[in-house]
Amino acid sequence: MKNNLSNIKKAVKYLNKNQCIGIPTETVYGLAANAYSGVATDKIYKLKKRPKNNPLIVHYSDLKMLKQDCEINDLFLKLYKKYSPGPISYILRLKKNSAISKNITNKKNSLAVRFPSHPIARRLLKMLNYPLAAPSANISTKISPVSKKDVKDEFGKKLSFVLDGGQSKIGVESTIIDLINKPQVLRLGGIPKEQIKKYLNQNLVYNKKSKIKTPGQGKVHYSPYIKLRLNVKNPKNKEAFILIKKRKRVAANYFYLSKGNNLEQAAKNLYKTLRLIKKSKFNSIAVEKIPNKGFGEVINDRLKRASYFK
Ligand code: TXA
Ligand code: MG
Repeated sequence: MKNNLSNIKKAVKYLNKNQCIGIPTETVYGLAANAYSGVATDKIYKLKKRPKNNPLIVHYSDLKMLKQDCEINDLFLKLYKKYSPGPISYILRLKKNSAISKNITNKKNSLAVRFPSHPIARRLLKMLNYPLAAPSANISTKISPVSKKDVKDEFGKKLSFVLDGGQSKIGVESTIIDLINKPQVLRLGGIPKEQIKKYLNQNLVYNKKSKIKTPGQGKVHYSPYIKLRLNVKNPKNKEAFILIKKRKRVAANYFYLSKGNNLEQAAKNLYKTLRLIKKSKFNSIAVEKIPNKGFGEVINDRLKRASYFK
């Protein structure tokens, strides 16, 4: 991508003026603003139509600034060394004297933090003297964006600037792990939980219904606002059909998530495919059974929540 640096400088200008902007990350695009500013982060809630009781993830370039805001522990450092920068977010104890805006923490003394690996996001973060609050850049409960164009589709002219970083490589949100008490996965995501469990060599709690701890999880979410059925063998006439395994049949309503049976590639293509189906004006979606392991578990989690739309 040409013109990277001049665009990143433009992004800095917007952010320094307390504006919110779209930024690329390796998981999904984020709607970013200065995490130390109530004025700036307010704009995120308004644009996203996000309830104020849902706290925001904060993005850092490295540990230096993080240490001013959060208590860190050994378990965190162990995971940080292995997986950050990358598609994992940690819930840490917020320091009392931290400059994080009260606007984004829902009166909790915890903070979700992440270190994105996307080179443009990293470069941007390094040029700022504050971290960036950045939830996924979609209207609350809808599909997350994986390209600049997706972000534009969500907000149109209401958002003045989106930094282009190409298509997000992972394509689903970060794995969220709570490290305040016993390590607990709150959201499945870019690093499959079995991998983390193996690395830590200790039990990792995952409760699908941890609604209270993560207000954004549980209800209709990741939804194209089209009815969606899971574990379907044969679609109805005129129904969009999402498949994971390549078959002989090619039809206008068949949407393959991957060429072979590659779950990682399928995750990367998931949101893009849902958007395409929406644009193609289908009014119902059927999904083939997807193996519930690794990235397949993440895909099933997102589709399950999308299927709550009736
Ligand atoms: O990959 C990602 O994490 C993307 C990119 C842009 O970084 N961000 C993202 O943010 O997915 P968001 O806001 O769409 O999802 C973050 C989730 C929400 O469900 C929110 O409720 C939860 O994290 N969360 C935020 N702060 C929390 C906290 N202190 N404790 C528990 N859950 C928290
Ligand atoms: Mg989101």
